[in-house]
Amino acid sequence: MIEFRNVSKEYGKSGKLALDGLNLTIGDGELFGFIGPNGAGKTTTIKILTGIIAPTAGESFVNGICMQRSPMEAKRLIGFVPDGAELFDRLTGLEYLNFMADMYDVSAQDRKKHIEKYLSLFELEDAAASQIRTYSKGMRQKLATIGALIHHPPIWVLDEPMMGLDPRASFLLKEEMKRHCAEGNTVFFSTHVLEVAEKLCSRIAVISGGNLIAEGTMEELRRAEGASSLEEIFLELTGDAEEAVQ
Ligand SMILES: Nc1ncnc2c1ncn2[C@@H]1O[C@H](COP(=O)(O)OP(=O)(O)O)[C@@H](O)[C@H]1O
Ligand SMILES: [Mg+2]
Repeated sequence: MIEFRNVSKEYGKSGKLALDGLNLTIGDGELFGFIGPNGAGKTTTIKILTGIIAPTAGESFVNGICMQRSPMEAKRLIGFVPDGAELFDRLTGLEYLNFMADMYDVSAQDRKKHIEKYLSLFELEDAAASQIRTYSKGMRQKLATIGALIHHPPIWVLDEPMMGLDPRASFLLKEEMKRHCAEGNTVFFSTHVLEVAEKLCSRIAVISGGNLIAEGTMEELRRAEGASSLEEIFLELTGDAEEAVQ
């Protein structure tokens, strides 16, 4: 479960809210997609949810634990794949995964199973012994994903996770996300790829200019906006319809 209660963010003293009073609850078993134009506040929301930045006002919760009041406890519940992960270039892939496992106190036996499974799934076995600086963008993204999930977190939070992944890796990641939710866990991810959100998500939220402007199942969004595809709904809601046609 993920919950935002009146969460706002003002960067510095800009006088502009990057996020304006977000209220949102995402239940167990939900695969939740977060969409919106560039600068809408998606990454800001995700950074608050994962405890990387503090909100200016409001609170967020994971499985009932408040991130702002009990950050260590809350962070243990989250696996976070950031947008364009910065990894340690001089570590090998395997060293990086062991480092992540150490950070989260994952036992030798558990980490071995996880690492073997995911290196094989993402076809990274051969690269695991090489330094990360030799990796392509997609390989880095895969490694970051494996590392983020090494402690078997119930809550997965992914910021633009399909970016840089080839179609096969992207497919495999989507299957893993579905499987994780089917087991009663929660996945929250942002994406620019509307088709992915449309096909994959149990519910979707649209954010624009720091405000939540729509939220619901695909069916509810369709009914509310009188449109058939998420693309139409998105363009309608974010007011880009005319620009997009030109
Ligand atoms: N570190 C920062 N300092 C100042 N402004 C920021 C910072 N990060 C993001 N912003 C601003 O906050 C708004 C939301 O950005 P962001 O959450 O990154 O949007 P998205 O991920 O939806 O593209 C934008 O106007 C952006 O310029
Ligand atoms: Mg972003």
